[in-house]
Amino acid sequence: MSPPRKLHIKSYGCQMNVYDAQRMVDMLAPEGFVETASVDDADLVILNTCHIREKASEKVYSELGRLRGVKDEAARNGRRMSIAVAGCVAQAEGAEIIRRAPVVDIVVGPQSYHHLPQLLARAKSHGRALETEFPVQDKFGFLAPPDPEVIRARGVSSFVTVQEGCDKFCTFCVVPYTRGAEVSRPVAKIIDDVLRLADNGVREITLIGQNVNAYHGEGPDGRIWSLGDLLRRLAEVPGIARLRYSTSHPRDVDDTLIAAHRDLPALMPFVHLPVQSGSDRILAAMNRRHGADDYRRVIDRFRAARQDIAFSSDFIVGFPSETEEDFVATLALVRQIGYAGAYSFKYSPRPGTPAADMQETVSAAEMDERLVRLQELIDSQQSAFNLAAIGSTVDVLFERAARNPGQIVGRTAYLQPAHVMAPPDIIGQVLPVTIASLERYSLLGELAAAHARPASSRMADSSQMITGA
Ligand code: 5AD
Ligand code: SF4
Repeated sequence: MSPPRKLHIKSYGCQMNVYDAQRMVDMLAPEGFVETASVDDADLVILNTCHIREKASEKVYSELGRLRGVKDEAARNGRRMSIAVAGCVAQAEGAEIIRRAPVVDIVVGPQSYHHLPQLLARAKSHGRALETEFPVQDKFGFLAPPDPEVIRARGVSSFVTVQEGCDKFCTFCVVPYTRGAEVSRPVAKIIDDVLRLADNGVREITLIGQNVNAYHGEGPDGRIWSLGDLLRRLAEVPGIARLRYSTSHPRDVDDTLIAAHRDLPALMPFVHLPVQSGSDRILAAMNRRHGADDYRRVIDRFRAARQDIAFSSDFIVGFPSETEEDFVATLALVRQIGYAGAYSFKYSPRPGTPAADMQETVSAAEMDERLVRLQELIDSQQSAFNLAAIGSTVDVLFERAARNPGQIVGRTAYLQPAHVMAPPDIIGQVLPVTIASLERYSLLGELAAAHARPASSRMADSSQMITGA
């Protein structure tokens, strides 16, 4: 048997890329690849790129420049190192990467990862290989994405892809061009994935997709199921204690999703619902297809269904033509909603998007200043949200041993990390924790009295689901 080959993946960007990187690792395992943390001794290096913001392709080319040195060094030592570019920059730039960066052996778009083993073989025989095709319509007219192999369970929490691509065409965004049209996986396949992961000890599933609540998958009953329908079914899977989904568009929040939040205790009351701006004029220019009040109404529907629900969002400052007044409307919306956290970005034109042709009107200094003001407001809301947990008893799903010896870390419903001193057999369990303090973004607490057990009196607990083996 030949010795294992080593695979190093560097992933940028969103959760979908994290998931895709895991998929690539699992897909290449049967080819004899094992993952390595060090780029220097890798036989295959994959850059899993992100194209969403700021000079993404330039960053990839400069990373490739660095990798050329590493590849040359390997060659001097008689070792062949292959370099692949995957992800959205691969999709957007395609053959241009092959042309500009001779160091690259393989360019593979997000819809083609299932062909990686063949692409490796093709690169070996032909020198280079490229595949950035989008799925074609099948005979039923469905846009069938290559089905992502279910990833191996890696712990307590796992992502499952339920849809890919986006049809919304926000004017600033590359996703509809790099990830293609919106396609949903059939319900039966998702259920199979979740059953398999649950069997392997996974307790929390996050359904992911570029526009996850646009999900409309073929149901086992022949009907088209919504995300709410899917969540309702997955909540019945034994062993699955928590469900989440990301990322959502306010326009696609339907009544089944709201009802799922009302009815399913397993569906966590924490929703990432990007709004981008609080100004109707800017929202229109962004082609968001909703106004600020529409967004407020969506938030109200969630809150009416589940009182303890909290929200996070994405914001862009400095979109072309954004005035101080528009920006103040964003601050007002943030103040009114009250977020548990949010990401905010300076607008950056993405080549090929409609906004890239718009006249940029906000100076770099103004953008910086607006970003600081927005982030200060969001930070203060996040701190207040975290501080409010002190003194309360909250459910924590324990995930792994923490860096401090004896401590186990898990997450609250709102994804706040929570640390307790406890034996490791609580990993995989949801237990109530009384929160004593906050250290930066981490909560520190103690297992609530009925659950606290000294390590020496640990009992065999058949309900526990230890994972990570
Ligand atoms: N400029 C700045 N931010 C952007 N985002 C997407 N495209 C751009 C862009 N061109 C942000 C949006 C989106 C998040 C994933 O990235 O806020 O929700
Ligand atoms: Fe991009 Fe999200 Fe708009 Fe789709 S909905 S175009 S992914 S910002």
